[in-house]
Amino acid sequence: MVVVAAASQEILKPHLAIEGGHALGGTLRVSGAKNSALVLMTAALLTQEPVELCNVPALTDIAGMCSILESLGMRVSRRGDRITLVADQLNGSEPPYELVNSLRASFFSIGPLLGRLGHARVPLPGGCRIGARPVVEHIKGLKALGAVVDVRHGVVTASIPGQRNRLKGAQIVLDCPSVGATETILMAAVLADGVSTIENAAQEPEVQDLAGLLNSMGAKIKGAGGPLITIEGVASLHGSRNYSVIPDRIEAGTFLMAAAITRSRLHVAPVIPEHLSAVLQKLRDCGCKLEIEGDGLTITPGDIQAVDITTQPFPGFPTDLQAPFMALMATAKGTSVISEKIYENRMQHVGELQRMGASIRLDGSTAIVEGVPLLGSAPVTGSDLRASAAMVLAGLSASGTTQVSGLKHLDRGYDNIEAKLTSCGAQINRHNG
Ligand code: UD1
Repeated sequence: MVVVAAASQEILKPHLAIEGGHALGGTLRVSGAKNSALVLMTAALLTQEPVELCNVPALTDIAGMCSILESLGMRVSRRGDRITLVADQLNGSEPPYELVNSLRASFFSIGPLLGRLGHARVPLPGGCRIGARPVVEHIKGLKALGAVVDVRHGVVTASIPGQRNRLKGAQIVLDCPSVGATETILMAAVLADGVSTIENAAQEPEVQDLAGLLNSMGAKIKGAGGPLITIEGVASLHGSRNYSVIPDRIEAGTFLMAAAITRSRLHVAPVIPEHLSAVLQKLRDCGCKLEIEGDGLTITPGDIQAVDITTQPFPGFPTDLQAPFMALMATAKGTSVISEKIYENRMQHVGELQRMGASIRLDGSTAIVEGVPLLGSAPVTGSDLRASAAMVLAGLSASGTTQVSGLKHLDRGYDNIEAKLTSCGAQINRHNG
């Protein structure tokens, strides 16, 4: 009886029902980058003038960031993929705990709040399922810029001492090239007195995108996208119009892997190939042909062979594509070794892939994946955003109908994923439970 009750609850959960085995064809459109858009939105705190972003993806994380910014007094209006943000009358410098906790990137607002208002109180975002995710480097950077920072009872309070309310340029060397720390420090330093440098900066394209927006607002930033960023502080920033968010390289990578796992020829666009170099190389190594066509890539998978990957900061193979790539390797010929080097607990998809018949041995943060000819369907749950995407890919290639739960994660980061895949021939139905 207990087993029956548990099983029926499982069926009632919101899920995607994916009938596997259908070839895909046509073009998969890539939305704007979630991780860029979230941070660009917080950068609008730095000016009283309107900041207008386009190519913003339709995601629950973006809606969450809108709520956080509105809680600080920002006016946010959205039309299609366009968001206009106006921070002319900020009435708060403390985003609420519930909102920050549910959206880690909102912690990065501490940088622009401090730069603009001279003080900020932001709850610590806390760890998450994939790892501890400290913010030590963010805080270290703000202190180097002259802020007084106090962490007490789970809240970070930062303020600028003295009358002038201005941070002071400094030389900052990061212990690790943290994306969030680089972005936080960048947003704090643009309004500081004098010149700041960030050494061992994160080189991710999203950092470059942030610098692009800030420069369009009058900031003076050089070197973003490389390991040394130089920021010459300016007195104030103005607004920006029509700033277009870069295409989401992680969504693009997921789609290329969807083509590979279903052995289907697909066009994925728009893609900036340099943002995906390590991923494209691995796809070629495992037997896919990739051709640049227009603003995108056409992928033609061959006989997929096992290849090894190790996740690394950009330009290395991104941790956010480790789980989707593992789904692909679960169907490859041979054995691949997948090492996760960024997060200590990002292997929760292994158990779910095993439920679908994947042959995977886990040794700490390394998975040894022996490809099988065909995965089988099963009810599975995505434990985080990218693990959910891996389950969708596995479901597309499996025999039978796979039921993927954990949609709240998927909807955080994939804009209309089932509509996009269905338009290319996938058989997916959403059940809202
Ligand atoms: C960003 C991305 C996330 C991606 C990650 C790594 C956003 C909103 N999220 O997260 O999707 O998975 O980059 O590419 O952009 N670390 C420290 N000390 C610190 C800060 C970080 O040790 O003070 C470590 C973390 O524990 C982790 C690694 O550095 O092991 C990467 O973290 P970080 O680059 O900060 O990731 P986020 O910016 O949070």
